[in-house]
Amino acid sequence: MREHKIALLPGDGIGPEVVSAALTVLDAAEKEFGFKTARQHYDIGATEYLNTGRLFHEFEDELRGYDAIFFGAMGDPRVAPGILERGIILEMRQRFDQAANVRPIRLYPGVPTPIADLNPERCELVIVRENTEGSYVAAGSSVHTGTKQETAMQESLNTYAGTRRVVEYAFKLANKRRKKLTLCHKTNVLVTAGKLWQRVVDEVAQEFPEVAVDYVHVDAMCFHLPLTPERFDVVVTDNLFGDIITDLGAVVQGGLGVATSANLNLDGSAPSMFEAIHGSAPDIAGQQLANPSAAILALALMLGHLGEGAAAAAIERATAAVIAKLPALAGKEMGLTTSEIGERIATKIADGSYAELELDNQLVQTLAEIRVGV
Ligand code: IPM
Ligand code: MG
Repeated sequence: MREHKIALLPGDGIGPEVVSAALTVLDAAEKEFGFKTARQHYDIGATEYLNTGRLFHEFEDELRGYDAIFFGAMGDPRVAPGILERGIILEMRQRFDQAANVRPIRLYPGVPTPIADLNPERCELVIVRENTEGSYVAAGSSVHTGTKQETAMQESLNTYAGTRRVVEYAFKLANKRRKKLTLCHKTNVLVTAGKLWQRVVDEVAQEFPEVAVDYVHVDAMCFHLPLTPERFDVVVTDNLFGDIITDLGAVVQGGLGVATSANLNLDGSAPSMFEAIHGSAPDIAGQQLANPSAAILALALMLGHLGEGAAAAAIERATAAVIAKLPALAGKEMGLTTSEIGERIATKIADGSYAELELDNQLVQTLAEIRVGV
């Protein structure tokens, strides 16, 4: 039987609750689709840091041995901002060379969106965010720190190789989808990095003659993405722009309860990591008020990536069927607890009723194909 080695990092706040709901779904998917996972929990996060000072670095060698990493959420008011983010999430993305942060923006049927007159047919795109460079490398310096003369320089690092690999991935993805790729940047102001990005896109475009290419400035993207998402198929962008526009994308698709992501290592040299876009929401932690759908969709992306495309597609459909019936996407108004949502989705997989909902599952299939190709 196929077996996948998974590291589970539930983390802080609502992380453990949403991961536990996702594991109920994973149990059902394993039974239904004939594969197994060997799962190992790791207590990486605020409590571990406060007790022992350990961050990602201490676990790096061990985590390297897994087929994939399933991540809950990170962040805790007891720890100063930046320590867990930089010391765990960003460190993992960089050390494991998770070059592409793939964030599908999909409006599922029946999910309320704040954008008037939007429907699921018009909103199905993927944002591919460069994940290891840009402003996130923390390059910079400050002089006269703490005085009125303080001068802070914060640089953005863009390498040809780093840009090229994520742009190639985005083209491959577009080529398997609707064959349209949009570069999102600010080439009219950030001219140095902008030139590199545009040159790489032009170069790679030669290898994908069937993919139509266009360009949108990041500020204009904030205008077009909510109003005309159908304009986009695959959007490729740098680390910081990608961070910002994917939160906007999450709003368009109905909120952080459904927004999910894959952090892909593209050359097989280290595991990829799968996580909901939401944070640890400490204000509602431990109360079963969080919507686990984003984490469950991250599970679908992980299984697609591991070559379990049928299970991935079933999980996505079952999740879509359950969230279509929720009166609200988060909090008490959801009408179901975090674990009840997981159980409903698991039941749909076990009894086969997920198949009732027709969805075009291009995304999970594409991830599976690309993984097989590396
Ligand atoms: C995200 C988050 C992270 C980021 C934070 C938590 C460091 O906002 O995954 O989008 O900025 O990348
Ligand atoms: Mg973000």
